[in-house]
Amino acid sequence: MKPRLLVLCVPLVLAALSSHAAEPAVVEQAHAIAVPITLKPYIPPSEQDIPDDEFGASVRLGKHIFTETSRYAAQYVGNGLQCANCHLGAGRLAHSAPLWGAWVKYPAYRSKNKMVNTMEERIQGCFRYSMNGSAPPADSRELKAVMTYAYWLAEGAPTGLDLPGRGYPKLADPAQSPDFTRGQKVFMQNCALCHGADGQGTKTSDKYQFPPLWGDASYNWGAGMHRINTAAAFIRANMPYGKAGSLSVQEAWDVAFYVNSHERPQDPRFSGDVQATKAEFHDHQCQYGETVDKQVLGARN
Ligand code: HEC
Ligand code: HEC
Repeated sequence: MKPRLLVLCVPLVLAALSSHAAEPAVVEQAHAIAVPITLKPYIPPSEQDIPDDEFGASVRLGKHIFTETSRYAAQYVGNGLQCANCHLGAGRLAHSAPLWGAWVKYPAYRSKNKMVNTMEERIQGCFRYSMNGSAPPADSRELKAVMTYAYWLAEGAPTGLDLPGRGYPKLADPAQSPDFTRGQKVFMQNCALCHGADGQGTKTSDKYQFPPLWGDASYNWGAGMHRINTAAAFIRANMPYGKAGSLSVQEAWDVAFYVNSHERPQDPRFSGDVQATKAEFHDHQCQYGETVDKQVLGARN
């Protein structure tokens, strides 16, 4: 993974990184110089640095919940996914929406629910939509543990900065509109091996070795990943697993369009009418409520 460097001006970096930044004299001086410097890629602490105490136990539980969600937070999960399926490297990997990148950016306003969201609420959102489940209460053992894990991963990171590697890297627009048939071809050649020709993933006994991309066991119509642009960005930066970055920009858009042109669990905000739900919540690049193969997506339930 090539670290992407973020170039910032001295005042901002000093304000964020230096404990003396609050002193007016330093800030004044920084404004006068204004030499651009580079913010180094953030490196989270390593596993063996988890302390051997009560706090460390919560960090460990948080990691287990993140990587084996269906086992450690079963009551809140409604599909076959784990958090780490979309936040690779147990939430550490840059350009895979790492937890440390998120931690320093909340509370934040989200247009999705038109309010300022705390970190707890952001995590609850991923349980409700990405995991097609229900939100663990803020004071539950599970939510506290995921919070503790995210906090620990972000140890020493500057609050409020968009760290290089946060989220999924924004993808350039495709030269041609994303296309189902081209996407299907990309899928068969690059994805079916692991995720199955039917997109249902591959399972050994009761555990998914490779997660499902659509259908009942995947993310629902309210999840961020159902957006073509979000999925294209994730796929381009992280898939095919082990060969990240090998798809062209166009291929990433086409395959994201293909994956997200299949049925999946209903949007939990469903009002009873697909077109009304689409109008209220889906003013973005997605296939919810569109007709594919004579079926209206989202109308199945
Ligand atoms: C199906 C894929 C998927 C799964 C599974 C998933 N997420 Fe996410 N998550 C996303 C997407 C997409 C985003 C938005 C990222 C973006 O737009 O950059 C996101 C964002 C987040 C963020 C905010 C990131 C930021 O930088 O603002 C947090 C925190 C988070 N997820 C936690 C979780 C937790 C905890 C779980 C498990 C309970 C989970 N996610 C499961 C796809 C997923
Ligand atoms: C070598 C096997 C492999 C190939 C090939 C592969 N993936 Fe994945 N994919 C994975 C694994 C493993 C994960 C979960 C990563 C983790 O948990 O660390 C994943 C996760 C995902 C996810 C998020 C989780 C979910 O189920 O929605 C999407 C979306 C995805 N892959 C799409 C694709 C697409 C599109 C392609 C083809 C361009 C592709 N993958 C090729 C192994 C693969």
